[in-house]
Amino acid sequence: MSTVEAPVDAPVDAPVDAPVGSGVALADLPLREDLRGASPYGAPQLDVPVRLNTNENPYPPPPALVAEVVAEVESAACELHRYPDRDAVALRTDLAAYLAGRTGVPLTASNLWAANGSNEVIQQLLQAFGGPGRSALGFVPSYSMHPIISAGTRTAWIPAPRRADFSLDAVRAVAAVREHRPDVLFVTSPNNPTGAAVPLADLRAVLAAAPGIVVVDEAYGEFSHQPSAVGLLAEFPGTLAVCRTMSKAFAFAGGRLGYLAAAPAVVDALLLVRLPYHLSALTQAAARAALRHASSTLDSVATLVAERGRVSAALRELGAEVVPSDANFVLFGRFADESVAWRRYLDHGVLVRDVDIEGHLRVTIGTPPENDAFLAASAAVLAQERP
Ligand SMILES: Cc1ncc(COP(=O)(O)O)c(C=O)c1O
Repeated sequence: MSTVEAPVDAPVDAPVDAPVGSGVALADLPLREDLRGASPYGAPQLDVPVRLNTNENPYPPPPALVAEVVAEVESAACELHRYPDRDAVALRTDLAAYLAGRTGVPLTASNLWAANGSNEVIQQLLQAFGGPGRSALGFVPSYSMHPIISAGTRTAWIPAPRRADFSLDAVRAVAAVREHRPDVLFVTSPNNPTGAAVPLADLRAVLAAAPGIVVVDEAYGEFSHQPSAVGLLAEFPGTLAVCRTMSKAFAFAGGRLGYLAAAPAVVDALLLVRLPYHLSALTQAAARAALRHASSTLDSVATLVAERGRVSAALRELGAEVVPSDANFVLFGRFADESVAWRRYLDHGVLVRDVDIEGHLRVTIGTPPENDAFLAASAAVLAQERP
């Protein structure tokens, strides 16, 4: 005889596969007007042999790092009945030491802020410095989350152009800043999805013209030969905020840790809008463990930069146009129809990114075997482009 009792209140004819509440559609909800018709951001997460579409580091963390993360998370788990350090001071101290070591700029915890990915840092910046009645300007094409987070915080988005080769024209950039006087200005360096970094002299010119906060998004900074904008913090303390992430070179995308370097007052502004205890104790512990292995993790940067050169040269030999890159990805073309070409890559088991730039696709630099697979697929896909 079964010992399992039927639930007393279960309706006799409850549908088994429809979730509770599925009779209500998104369009029925009292949603903000400006969100009606919008689609959620997200690259396809497909189960494909070669995934080169989200600019991660293709090398998994080494066993010593994994062991340290596990040990630190275990010890943090003993305190999970308590809220974490709301201000993540120990982690910010470690991030300051890391960034000071890389840039030569003396930084302390008061110059650093951390959140769940640099997307959250950007959202906090827009909550503090953007918002209704304010504007944010970016040079397009660039990182698509900048306008999306602007929309989410009701900050008016102003797209300004780049040159036809996707590089930033500093003279036109300064003119756009003077004309629009944005409250928040985004400069992505190296730029995603096009790849080039912005020289410090150009950044300085743009910063000198900007009336509001200038967010230099350096998500791919470790791959670039250009110096970090952190070196300009002493010159522009009231306007510059440099955003970085552990998701790319640091091979910590799954850990979700982004950070910002700025004057302490800018960090104080973010404290006004952050949610209390936004960074879990587990995230803080794991990120600190990963930071202790920074030098071994970042060894992969040299390999990836060399592979970027090899992939770019091989693509050119196959007849592709390749946009010069300072990051761990390459924008290339030209395809008669980039969405048809994207599908053809997928048919070869290679997932690249359609970034909505006519005739172009973006490929993340992977391990040498992944890049070989990508190049083999490219030979076939590019051959289909020829008349
Ligand atoms: C330019 C740029 N900024 C920020 C991010 C966000 O990174 P995360 O939120 O993982 O730190 C990305 C991710 O692709 C990016 O390309």
